[in-house]
This record gives sequence, C-alpha cells and structure tokens, in this order.
Amino acid sequence: MDITQYKPKGKLNNKHLLTLKDYTANEIYEILLRAAELKNMNRRGKKQRCLSGKTVALIFAKSSTRTRVSFEQGVRQLGGVPLFLSSNDIQLGRGETIHDTVKVLERYGIDAIMIRTFKQSDLEDLARFGTIPVINGLTDDFHPCQVLADLLTVYEVFKRLEGIKFAYFGDGNNMANSLMLGCAKVGMKVYICSPKGFEPNPEIVAEAQKFGEVVVTDSVEEAATGADVLYTDVFFSMGQAADKKKSDALMPYQVNESVMDMASKEAVFMHCLPAHRGEEVTEGVIDSPRSVIFEQAENRLHAQKAVMSLLIK
Ligand code: CP
Ligand code: NVA
Repeated sequence: MDITQYKPKGKLNNKHLLTLKDYTANEIYEILLRAAELKNMNRRGKKQRCLSGKTVALIFAKSSTRTRVSFEQGVRQLGGVPLFLSSNDIQLGRGETIHDTVKVLERYGIDAIMIRTFKQSDLEDLARFGTIPVINGLTDDFHPCQVLADLLTVYEVFKRLEGIKFAYFGDGNNMANSLMLGCAKVGMKVYICSPKGFEPNPEIVAEAQKFGEVVVTDSVEEAATGADVLYTDVFFSMGQAADKKKSDALMPYQVNESVMDMASKEAVFMHCLPAHRGEEVTEGVIDSPRSVIFEQAENRLHAQKAVMSLLIK
C-alpha cells in the first residue's frame, strides 16, 4: 500500500525505535502522517500535550545540534520534560553498564530514553534490559529518526513516496544503511552509489532488497540519471579519523552541478547535515533553490514528536 491510501490507526506494534528493519511500511506511514498532523498543528499554534507528566532522558555519547535541540524542543512542545545527559558526565562514560544505567533511570520515573551512541548493540541492550521505550538518535550503524524526517520531506515535495528514484552518493555509512531500509520499505527505487571499498554493509543491503528495488553501484551516471532525490553525507562520520585514501576515493562521488544536471528537472538535493561544503557537496548545490536541507532539519522535530507520541504511553 502507498502512503496516499493509508488510513492511520493511531498506534504502532513496535515498542522501540531501534532500526527501521523492525518497522513495516504501514508503521512508517503511521509516523509520517502523525508528523504531518503535528506539523500542521504547530503552524496553527495548536498544542498537543500527550507527554504531560512524562520525562524523556536524552543520552548523548557523540556531538549533536539537530538531534539534541529537536528532541528537547519536541518533548517540551508535547508537554513533557527533557533530561539531557551527556555520557561524559554520567557514570556510563566511566564504564557503568547499560544494564545498571537503565535500571536506575527507571527507578527515578524516566518514561523513555533517546540515545545517541556508538554501538548498535548498546542501544539494543538498553531496550532489552529496561521496560521503557528506547529511541535511536544515531549509532554507528543506523539513524532512523533522520530517515523519518527525510521521508516526510520527500512526501511534502512530491506528494507521494512510491516510485520515487532516490540516489545516495558517498560513504556506505549509518545514513546509507537507514535510507536503504526506509526508502525501500515505502516503495522507492533506491540507488546507493559508493566507491569500491566503501559500500554499505552487504547484510543490510540484502535485508533492504527483500522490501524493494535497491541497487548498489559505483556508477554516478547510473544513480543520478533521472533521479528525483540526490542525497549525500559526510566523508567521515563521528568517531572516524580523517584519512586521505578515503577522501580521495569519495571525491568523485561529490554531488556537484554536473551530477544535478543528470537528474530529473524537479530533483531535489538532500543532506542530513552537518555538511562539508567542497567535499561531499559543492556550495552551489547545497545553497541552491533545489536544496531542501532546512526542511529536512525542521522535519526532525515533527517526525520525532510523532514517534514519541506513538511510543510513549
Ligand atoms: N542530522 C543530525 O543528526 O544532526 P546532528 O548530528 O546535529 O544531531
Ligand atoms: N554519518 C554521519 C551522520 C551525522 C548526522 C555521522 O555519523 O557522523
């Protein structure tokens, strides 16, 4: 079913948001339609206070602008209290276990945890040892909140998701993994265009291919020709050391004016941000009218409010 035919049910089967692997297309539509509704309410100054009396812990083991501010604001706008915890300042950063941390947070009445960390297994442990919802705010492997905001953005631009040709250029990283899963599930034609040696994890490619058309290619022309969306991300993700061999390999995959020229006339440029102008994208492309980067960034707020409103009881 396409999003345009989906009728919201007001609930999700999932208890957590760990990766989009666990979500069906209908559950993704549920979140996107709730996000669109919350965005509309926001625009009209109407309040939704479904987190009234709730506290959401926001644990960060890596830097953040968008995730931190959009979650803090999102929890507040829904009437709840955000509790920012930098893992450097809590005992988790000094080796206290995930198990003990979640058990203690629950004793203080924390209602949900959003965590940005390194290992996906740490996030999964939080969900396994605790009883409260856990939301992935980025790991080395996945960034599902970003992809939900991105899908909302694509839906707003094209009024549909099914059949969109989506092309990602660059490092086969956490963004590539999550985009493949999310975009394939909602019926997009997904091209991941990476140089040899920097392709996404083949197990995740195989998983995404179960849901739809996912092509991994090293040909920029194949990915860009007729594409509706061109997406890229940084050469070096948080936690990775810069290295010349990798930047040399990724430079030919830069989204520049000639790559945009191969795409459809209505194509948009997307980036999860933060961006490095002159590396993965030229200034001319990212600052052009075809760039929807700030719509994406804004949609983090609405998509995450939708996720929290559906997961936190
Ligand atoms: N896109 C994104 O997650 O941005 P931050 O790293 O600033 O949170
Ligand atoms: N791949 C990037 C995404 C940042 C939002 C990183 O992990 O640093």
